[in-house]
Amino acid sequence: MAFPREVVEEVRARTDIATLIGQSVALKRAGRGMVGLCPFHNEKSPSFNVVPHKQIFHCFGCGASGDAIAFVMKARGLTFVEAVKDLAQAAGVALPERDLTPEERARLSARQDLFTACETAASLFARTLLALPEGGPGRAYLAKRGITLETATKYRLGFAPEGWDRLARHLQSQRVPPQLGAQAGLLKRRENRDGVYDVFRNRLIFPILDDRDRPIAFGGRLLPNSDPTAKDEGPKYLNSPESPIYKKNEVLYGLSWARAAAQRKDRLILVEGYFDAVSLWQAGFGEAVATCGTALTERHVERISSHTRKVYALFDGDSAGLRAAQKSLPILQAAQVSAFRLNLGAAKDPDEFVQKQGALAFETLLSSGEDLIHMVVRRIVEEEGRDGMAKDRVMQRVTGFLRDLPSDVTRETATLYVAGLLNLRADEIRARAFSQADARPLPRVPTPSNWIPSRELVHLLWCLFRKPAEVAPIIGRVDPDWVTDRGDVLTAMVSIGNGMPFTQVLQDLEGSSPDVARTFRAIVARDDLYKEEDTVSAAQDVVLRLEARAVDAEIIAINAQIEAMLKSADKSSYRGMLEALSGLNKRRQQINAAISRTRAPA
Ligand code: UTP
Ligand code: MN
Repeated sequence: MAFPREVVEEVRARTDIATLIGQSVALKRAGRGMVGLCPFHNEKSPSFNVVPHKQIFHCFGCGASGDAIAFVMKARGLTFVEAVKDLAQAAGVALPERDLTPEERARLSARQDLFTACETAASLFARTLLALPEGGPGRAYLAKRGITLETATKYRLGFAPEGWDRLARHLQSQRVPPQLGAQAGLLKRRENRDGVYDVFRNRLIFPILDDRDRPIAFGGRLLPNSDPTAKDEGPKYLNSPESPIYKKNEVLYGLSWARAAAQRKDRLILVEGYFDAVSLWQAGFGEAVATCGTALTERHVERISSHTRKVYALFDGDSAGLRAAQKSLPILQAAQVSAFRLNLGAAKDPDEFVQKQGALAFETLLSSGEDLIHMVVRRIVEEEGRDGMAKDRVMQRVTGFLRDLPSDVTRETATLYVAGLLNLRADEIRARAFSQADARPLPRVPTPSNWIPSRELVHLLWCLFRKPAEVAPIIGRVDPDWVTDRGDVLTAMVSIGNGMPFTQVLQDLEGSSPDVARTFRAIVARDDLYKEEDTVSAAQDVVLRLEARAVDAEIIAINAQIEAMLKSADKSSYRGMLEALSGLNKRRQQINAAISRTRAPA
């Protein structure tokens, strides 16, 4: 260990774990501690616990646990030394530098210097916008865009005036070296002379913050109608380049402010522009973040899914919008995030919509958001048409899309949507999309190295491993599709249920499905899920939950079928569908009642 023990203790003592974790995970009070959605695995109901009086965190879902230092290491991918250094800095604990390796010291101080450069710039920009005479054009532009000074203050908006060296001079006066300003993307070297010049000029500045609310990058919007003779003003928005502290595909603009609201309202609004996020906040929609021109990434979704599993996003009504939706869906589905499409109608963007039509209209818009899966299928049908030939092309495109969906449940939901829209039987579609007979490669095994079982399945496997003889028949009573879409997993489960030794099953899996073997080993190693005498009833409970998910998917699909039928001429199946729907709803209520009688999984 590179630090004396006392120093590390001092860092621990001066760090409040609840505050620390609360910066990136929305926590709710629960008893003596706090709970939230675990940032280290996918989950829908919170099993991530923070225990302030012990200064530890623990996730009952994935087993992650530790103290503040462990959290920082895991959450930010830092080494122990880096994590201690980071926390020490935040807590104002002085560390003996000597014990760091030279590379560690260099890397840490480089990051630290970049934070300082960005913070210094952000302060100047904000002060200029709010208080300095040179900020006049910025204030006028804000007013024209309907953004109040209160909003500007909240979002730390700023203004970079015209001229070439306003920031360069300020950074120098604050002893921030020009190379640093350049590395942060704030300054550029002059081409033919010595020295540097400001990158952001005559622009309204949107600072981009990290999850500890430190500025790490900037977006700058050019003010319109400045001197018309001036040229080389550059694009409408200038954005900081990537740097050691700024990774574009991880950052969501506005997340610092949106975390709490997203958790409280259990939804997140995903927009494209800085102005959209800010404007929505001002209208009362604090749960808005912007992707800033990049496509949605897994890392984005990961950051969202620790706060909410419901996302409202904008997708254009053209084929590019359809492609974007099709691309985003697997990413969202993999993190168990449901997505809804916002249809702004004639408005150009949410900023324009909410400023012109108001908050109530926007809330109405949210409540009419269309499920993204539904949107994709509907749009494919619309593009191809409904005649005999088109049906084939629709099937081809839709089955391709179905296969890409990562979860069996969403795939089933989508299949049922398609059935409703095309007036086909779900069996037919399943046969086309997923049968061996189909010439295309089998979709049943997704990316082999990356199997993430649902929480329900993890619990079920745990029970099965403990009591194979008693749990196997419980699983055998339900549709295997509810349990998993992985053939190799099912086969292994059946083997275990038939009494094959666990080690033998693992050995078989090792060659063909190493990801499954690894997960099985992790699950069997856990000794904390249920008491011995609760194992069988717990398995029963999990199976009910799996059935509940399947019934939910069917209810959604029948609703879609009813909707489609109401639009068509043939209403003969109406009664049958209503009866089916009421049967499903009844079954759902029975399941609910049954589940609430048994103990919920930890
Ligand atoms: P828009 O052109 O829709 O801008 O780009 P906007 O946010 O609505 O801005 P206003 O309302 O015209 O002032 C959406 C987002 O795409 C990125 C920015 O993040 C912007 O907010 N963008 C756009 C750029 O990075 N560079 C550009 O030149 C334009
Ligand atoms: Mn706009």
